[in-house]
Amino acid sequence: MKSKSKVLRARSQSWDPVASWYAGWAGRNGSHYHRTIAVPLMLELLSLKGGERLADLGCGHGILAPPVADLGARYIGVDLSSRLLAVARRHHARHGRFVLGDATQLPDHKLLTPGAFDAAAFLLSIQDINPLAAAIAEAARLLRPGGRLGLVMLHPCFRIPRQSGWGWDEGRGLKYRRLDSYLSALAVPMQEHGQGTTRSYHRPLGDYVAALNAAGLAVTGIKEVADNPGPQDKRADKRATREFPLFLGMKAVKLE
Ligand SMILES: C[S@@+](CC[C@H](N)C(=O)[O-])C[C@H]1O[C@@H](n2cnc3c(N)ncnc32)[C@H](O)[C@@H]1O
Repeated sequence: MKSKSKVLRARSQSWDPVASWYAGWAGRNGSHYHRTIAVPLMLELLSLKGGERLADLGCGHGILAPPVADLGARYIGVDLSSRLLAVARRHHARHGRFVLGDATQLPDHKLLTPGAFDAAAFLLSIQDINPLAAAIAEAARLLRPGGRLGLVMLHPCFRIPRQSGWGWDEGRGLKYRRLDSYLSALAVPMQEHGQGTTRSYHRPLGDYVAALNAAGLAVTGIKEVADNPGPQDKRADKRATREFPLFLGMKAVKLE
C-alpha cells in the first residue's frame, strides 16, 4: 500500500474513467450548481471584457465556454481527459478551443503561450488537481502581468470530503456543521462512478494563499456563497444552509 505522503504528492489523474457519467450528470450547460452558483461566481470574479483571452484549467467538457464566448472573450480549455474534451469539442467547438494537457505541467502548445492570457480559471477543478503549487504556478505563467486568476471550489473550511457533515443538537434544536479534521491535507478517493474512482484533494485555506503568493499572485478578493434552501426545508435546515457556505471563490492578480 502507498504511504499517505506519496499519495498526497502523486499527480492527479484524468477523469477519462468517469467521463460519460460526469458529462451526463452535469449536462451540456452544467449542473444546477454550475448554473445557479459556480459559473456566475466565476464570471463575477474574472470580470472578463470583450477580446480578452481566458484559460480554463481542468475544463472538463467545457461548460464555461459558452458564457465566456457570450461576453466576447476568447476561451481556451485545458484538461487531462481526452474523453471529456471530445464532448467539449462536440458541444462547444464554436465557443472556444480545447487542448489536452496536464495543468500542473502544461504542454508546449501554440494556444498556450506564456504571458498571453488576461485571465485563468479553475472552475470546480482545483480540488481535483495535484500538486497544487505546480497548478497555480502554471496558471501564473500563462497570465500577463496584471492578469486575473479565478478559483471556485467547494468551501475548504466547511466541506471536507469524508471529514465534515451535518449534526443535530437536540437540546438547542439546532442543526450544526461538524468537522472531524481540517489542517491535514488529504487525498480522498471519491465514490465510484462509471469505470473508476477519482481523487479529491483537501487542503486548508492557508495552503491556497501560500501557493498563490509563491507564484507571484496576490489575493484581491474572496467570496463565500451559500446554497439556496428548498421551499419545503424546515426552519433549522434553512438556517444551516444559509449560514455555512457551500462554495468559496477567490480572485488573485499577477503582480507586475
Ligand atoms: C470536477 S471536474 C471539473 C470540470 C469542469 N471545470 C466543470 O466544472 O465541469 C475536474 C476536472 O479536472 C481534470 N483534471 C484532473 N487533474 C488534472 C490535471 N492535472 N490537469 C488538467 N486537468 C485535470 C479532470 O480530468 C476533470 O475534468
